[in-house]
Parts: sequence; C-alpha cells; structure tokens
Amino acid sequence: ATAPAPAPTGLTFKPIPPNELDSFIVPNGYDHAVVIRWGDPILPGAPALDVHHQTGESQSKQFGYNNDFLGVLPFPGRDDRALLVSNHEYTNEELMFPGFTSQEALTVDQVRAAMAAHGMSVVELERVGRTGQWRPVRSRRLPYNKRLTMLATPFRVDGPAAGSPLLRTAADPAGTTVIGTLNNCAGGVTPWGTVLSGEENFNQYFVGGDAVPAADKPYLNRYGILTTARYPSGSRRWERAQERFDLAKHPNEANRFGWIVEVDPFEPGALPRKHTAMGRFKHEGANVIVARSGHVVAYMGDDERFEYLYKFVSSGTYRPHDRRHNLTLLSSGTLYVAQLDGDSPATEIDGSGKLPSDGAFDGTGKWIKLVSGTTSYVPGMTATEVLTFTRLAGDAVEATKMDRPEDVQPSLQTGKIYAALTNNTNRGVGTYPGVDEANPRTANRHGQILEITEDGGDHTGLTFTWSLPIVCGDPDDPSTYFAGFDKSKVSPISCPDNVAFDRTGNLWIATDGNALGSNDGLFATPIEGPSRGHLKQFLTVPPGAETCGPFLTGDDRSVFVAVQHPGEVTGATIDNPASTWPDGDFAKPAVVVTWRLDGGAIGS
Ligand code: FEO
Ligand code: CA
Ligand code: CA
Ligand code: CA
Repeated sequence: ATAPAPAPTGLTFKPIPPNELDSFIVPNGYDHAVVIRWGDPILPGAPALDVHHQTGESQSKQFGYNNDFLGVLPFPGRDDRALLVSNHEYTNEELMFPGFTSQEALTVDQVRAAMAAHGMSVVELERVGRTGQWRPVRSRRLPYNKRLTMLATPFRVDGPAAGSPLLRTAADPAGTTVIGTLNNCAGGVTPWGTVLSGEENFNQYFVGGDAVPAADKPYLNRYGILTTARYPSGSRRWERAQERFDLAKHPNEANRFGWIVEVDPFEPGALPRKHTAMGRFKHEGANVIVARSGHVVAYMGDDERFEYLYKFVSSGTYRPHDRRHNLTLLSSGTLYVAQLDGDSPATEIDGSGKLPSDGAFDGTGKWIKLVSGTTSYVPGMTATEVLTFTRLAGDAVEATKMDRPEDVQPSLQTGKIYAALTNNTNRGVGTYPGVDEANPRTANRHGQILEITEDGGDHTGLTFTWSLPIVCGDPDDPSTYFAGFDKSKVSPISCPDNVAFDRTGNLWIATDGNALGSNDGLFATPIEGPSRGHLKQFLTVPPGAETCGPFLTGDDRSVFVAVQHPGEVTGATIDNPASTWPDGDFAKPAVVVTWRLDGGAIGS
C-alpha cells in the first residue's frame, strides 16, 4: 500500500485570506467545480430534487444530505474512472423543507426523506478530458451507483459481539442484521479497496430512554442518550416513522449503532458490514496501515469532549493479491485504548498554552489492551461488553481524556499518526478535567494536532512517543504553536477535524466550526523538514459549512472536499437562508473538486 514518495516539492500556492464570502474560494491558478450535490439523481428513475415533495422513495435514489467523508477509488488500471464514496452524516430539516417549524411538525414523508438522506452514496465518476476535474458518469447503466439508507439497506454484523443478546431485537432476533447506518462522519479507504465509515452521534435519534430499566440507563447515558424524558429536546422524532427508535419498546436498538462499517463499492451486491471487533463508541472514522508484520492496524477517535483514542490490530495478516482474505481482516483482532503521559513537570502545564521548558508539548504513551477476540482484559466486563460499551472499558483502564479526537490517520510516507483534536471548551472549566501536556489549554476553543510515533515504527506495538506539532488559533495568540515556524507567515486555523496527506507527505487539514469567526476551510503544511508548521490556507467554504473529506487523488492532481451543512447558521432556514451556495437558490451540501489549471500537483 505504500507507494514510493516523490521528493518533497514544498507547498508553493499563495494562501487565501480568511473570509466570510458565500462562495467557494481557491488560490490563484486553481479552478473548482461542484461534482455532485444534495438531491442530484444517482439511481435509475430518480426524480430531480423537489424540496416541496421529497419522500423517502425519491431521496433513496438521490445523493444524500451533509456529505462528510469522501473516498475516490479508481477502477483497477484506470486513471479516468473511479467510484466516489460519500458519507451522509445528518440532516438539517430547517434547511431542507420549506415552512419548517419543528421536528414534531414534519410529515412522516418528510421524516422518511430525512432518514433516506442519511447513510452513504456510491457514484461512478469520470475524468473530464485530461484535467484534474471529475464529474459523474451519465449513462443508463451505472451498475456501481448505490445509496445506503436507513430505510432499506441491510448491514451484516460481524465480529465477536455479533449475535450477542445485547444486539438482538424483535425485528432481528439473531442480532446479526441491522437496517441502515447512522451519522456517518469520517472514514478511510483500505488497501484492498473498501471504505470504512464511522457511526458517530447516533444518540440523537432515540426516544423513550426514560422507560428502560434503571440498571440499563448508565449504558445509554455514557453514550449521550438521555433517560430523563420521553422526548429529549432536539430529538429527531424518527420513532414516528419507525418504531425501533423508541427505546421503551426496543431497548437494544441503540446498541446496533456506533460501529465502524465497511463497504465494498466494487461489489454492489455484497452486504456492507458492521465490525464489532473495532468497538462501539462515537466513531469519527478509521484509517488503516499495514504493519511490517502484515497485521492491519486501524487508528480511531471517539469524537466527544474527554473521550479516547483507540487502535485495532487485526488477528490475520494482509495478503496483497487476496482480496477475499483481506475482507476478513477487520472481523477479528485486538482493541487498544491510548494513555498519554507528558514529559514536562505538571507545574509547567498551566493551561495558558505556554510551552513547557523543554520546548514542546510532548511525551510518551501506552496502548492499553481492552479485548482480543473473545478475551476481555477489563476486569468485570465480558468481551462482548467491552466491544459494545467500549467507552466504559476505556474509563475502567483510565485512558487519557482527550480534546475531542476526530480524524486519526497514519501517514503512509512516514508511518507517523496524526490526530485532529478539534476543541474542548470544557477543558479545565468548573469540575471538568483539567489540562495535561497533550491537552494543554483550558477552555480550548481552537484545538490541536497530535503526532504519534510508534516505538520502533511498529504499529502493532504497545508504546509510542507523541508531540503536538500544531496548537491551533490565530497566530497572534501566544498560546498557538506551529512547530516553531515563523508565526508571521502562517494562516490562522481553528477546529481541525479531518486530515489527509498528499503524495509527498504534506499534511492537509480541514476545519469544522472556525471559532475565529471566518469561514471554515482546507489548509496544508509540510510536516517534515525545515518548513514543518508552515501552514497555509488552501480553500474556504461558504458560511455555516464545515470542510470535510478531504481526499487527494493518488496522482495529486485533484483534491475533493465535501461542503457539509452550508448555511447552518442560528436562525437560518431554507426560507430565510444564510447561504445560497452553490446554485443561488438555497444551500445544498455538495462535493467539490479543485484542480490546478496547469495540470500540476495540487499545492506544489
Ligand atoms: Fe462528525 Fe466528529 O465530526
Ligand atoms: Ca514536553
Ligand atoms: Ca468530523
Ligand atoms: Ca466535526
């Protein structure tokens, strides 16, 4: 999976300034185009988007809402055809349905349309001429195009917790088949050409938690499902369309979400799977690397304040030309959680973000084994319980509480692992946990990037070192850090969410929730050599949107980003929009491709 890297060419593009434009902005010398947007037909017989008459049936044939993760997987041996795989994390009903007043007031058809707008899409793309631009293939025969939805797509549950009593429901007494995938956030592409996708904030879809037995409530509460009211505020009220979202009647349904799913876009008939061996939490995503031993190692974050970093090591080993075998690798293995220790005196970490006297936020860490196959290493919990209630297992072993671990991705050039810790405004506030060297700022609004180096370069190992190459914010803010690079030359950055690498190993960072007030965007920085920390802003997205994806194609000629929830601004609705991107009428989440006009490598 590791391609020989071209020599680093540096990042020569002229950074774009922070802005609040209702537009998608790229540097001079680049162009961009919408590849596909919410509501675009992708399956035979799909109607055009009609916001006044959306139904579960129409939306099930159209591109979904709130695209997040993107993978662009070329057909073997082709550089002009690829499959785009996109997550659809959640819906903004106020931006989707004219006349919206409340979730309760939606029609059941609208609820079903919202359910169908969740999930994932697979769309066949073609290169436009010889450029870095891509577009959907227009054809009557598109055998790979697919929607995975909450209405109709069965997922097979595999791994040690499949079939356990905790996963059984009236509709699925075997506990092995779940309809749909929920709140899919980030993800990754495997070396065998499948896509991994994280089920994140699944808690918001359930009601009736007040009626479950008292002994079960802590297991719901630990995942953010409220058990004090029948209808927690902000509930999406999906039980109006499907009774399974009422925990009073179907208490195990919530246990069937919060997993890593694996989708094989090249086998449209194959059932997608939920891998219980990789644990259950608010999975941001999963990114894999093949260790020297051949074991496949997945790095994962649980995106909530004070949650944990994890890794999964497969039992089996990767075989380069045996796809059928490789498809089994994530079904069995060992799950670890991270504990990080600083190497500076605690007294030097005062929460102001001032560097400790050794000049760095850095230290050592351990991977603590939680479960391996059907053997639990957590006292008082069975293997099934560790896998299904992984957060409680992390609590039991005193894993390190991080500032919202989002995307965690190994660089295939160096083997170092980068985690976006997006923010944590509760850090050190009131009775919340205080600062530590890896999470060194109180009321952390802007987040940081964590770099992990496995000892001996062994991804299956139990120990590592770590540092924070970037502590985000306005470079004029003394608590920021850009690997020691001249701060007068770097772009302001806030709330890193997704990371990616180009072929030469530069780190690309997409943001969500820019607390500096301007639009979110995509940034790039060299992460090795003298320009480490020379961060520059590459593009910005419209107001209210977060920047997701990002995905750089293997030839470095195209960068895809997902513009998620444009116009998601307090008080804005489809009738009173804060953004009309991309078409000038009302905001639509969309996938955008950016390329260099001269055909050169992106960024260089
Ligand atoms: Fe869905 Fe963690 O962002
Ligand atoms: Ca230190
Ligand atoms: Ca995210
Ligand atoms: Ca996010």
